[in-house]
Order: sequence, then structure tokens, then C-alpha cells
Amino acid sequence: MAGEQEKRNAAIAAIDYVEDGMTLGLGTGSTAKHFVELLADEVADGLIVRGVPTSAQTQRLAEAHGIPLLPVDQVQQIHLTVDGADEADGQGQLIKGGGAALLREKIIANASDQMIVIADPSKQVETLGAFPLPVEVTQFGFTITAKKVFDALVASGIARPKVELRQGADGQPVVTDGGNFILDCHCGIIPDAPATARGLADVPGVVEHGLFIGLARTVIFGSQDGAIVLDHT
Ligand code: A5P
Repeated sequence: MAGEQEKRNAAIAAIDYVEDGMTLGLGTGSTAKHFVELLADEVADGLIVRGVPTSAQTQRLAEAHGIPLLPVDQVQQIHLTVDGADEADGQGQLIKGGGAALLREKIIANASDQMIVIADPSKQVETLGAFPLPVEVTQFGFTITAKKVFDALVASGIARPKVELRQGADGQPVVTDGGNFILDCHCGIIPDAPATARGLADVPGVVEHGLFIGLARTVIFGSQDGAIVLDHT
């Protein structure tokens, strides 16, 4: 598949940050999958870590690969989370949630001492917004919430957004691990991501949004033959 070598090389670079004894947040998606597989190799070679998965999908993957997991409610400290992204800008601001796991991903990233993002170069953008911004909302009142989300996007400077309920291949709404719906917000350009994040957080019915601001200290873009590490302080 396109970009798989870049994704794998980003994941290889992220393995360097893992230390014996760490509790690790395990991200979701096709890039995070590479990291989980590589981590499993290290565990098989004797590395001692415990994982905290950010989705049911990643939990199944980690279990299948023999990575010891820690129930989230028993977590005292997460030293490092490694996760993918749908977009990353030059300040380490992200859009996440293409895989509908944004709520758990953000809870785990926010609880971590450090978050590293791994991605192929297609995720690198100057300004966020070409990728539709996922917003997780309660099923109750979601049409009302969608209108308020639209208003919040406009108020934060986004011209003519389009807000769509995410549907699966069966034509039914996608339901997240938390039992909620996803609104995909086509923005084009998000000129002020922190303002948009604040506006969305204020809408009743919004459980979480896919803007990750100030969470990723390090973003690693894989290439065909290595990786570029960008540190944001
Ligand atoms: C999951 O909800 C997302 O946040 C993923 O981390 C993001 O979509 C990146 O996925 P890929 O690595 O598959 O592109």
C-alpha cells in the first residue's frame, strides 16, 4: 500500500524513544499498527513495557501480538504515547480521528508525559483543514449539535464549512467505541485552530473534537529510507 514504507520508518524511529519499564499509550490507525508490531518484536526480545490501547481495534492488535496491557482505570502514569495523525502542521498541531478513535486517543495523549506522532509525509501540512475535522457527538440531539457545530466553525473564522454525519459502508452512522456519532467537518482551511478548538468544546453534545493542540512534542515523518524528527517545545 502507498506510504507503508514511510509509515514503517516513522514507527522504527519512534521505537528509539521506548525504554524498559515504560507504560505506553498505543495509538490507532495504519501507522500506529506498525509501531505496535515493532514493539511486539522488542517485547519478544525481552523488553518490559505495558500498553494502554486507544481503541478496541488496537487492543485486539496488541493482544494478538502478545504485548502486556494495563486496564485504563489502573493506570498511574503513562510515560509515552505513540500515535498517528491525519494532519500535522509546523507547530505540532494535529487533526486526528479519521479512524474514529479521537476521544480515547486524546484522553490517553493528554495523560501522557510525552506524545510522539508518527506519520507519512502526506500528513504534513502548512495549515490544518484539508482533512475533514472529526467531531465526536452524542447520538442524542445530533442534528441540533451539528447546527451548533456549524455555527462554532463559522464563528472561529471558517468560511462555508460543511458538516456531515459519518456513515459506514452499510449506510448506517458510524458508532465510536464510546457509543457516539462522528461529524466530519469539511473546513478547507482552519485559520485559527486553537479558536476553533475552544468554540467546538463549548457546544453541548460535543464529546470531543479531533484538534490536538499542544499535545505532540515530537512529530516523526517517515521517508523511503529513514525519518525526519521535528521537535516542538
Ligand atoms: C484514529 O482515530 C486516528 O486519529 C488515526 O490516528 C489517524 O487517522 C491516522 O491514521 P493512519 O495512520 O491510518 O493514517
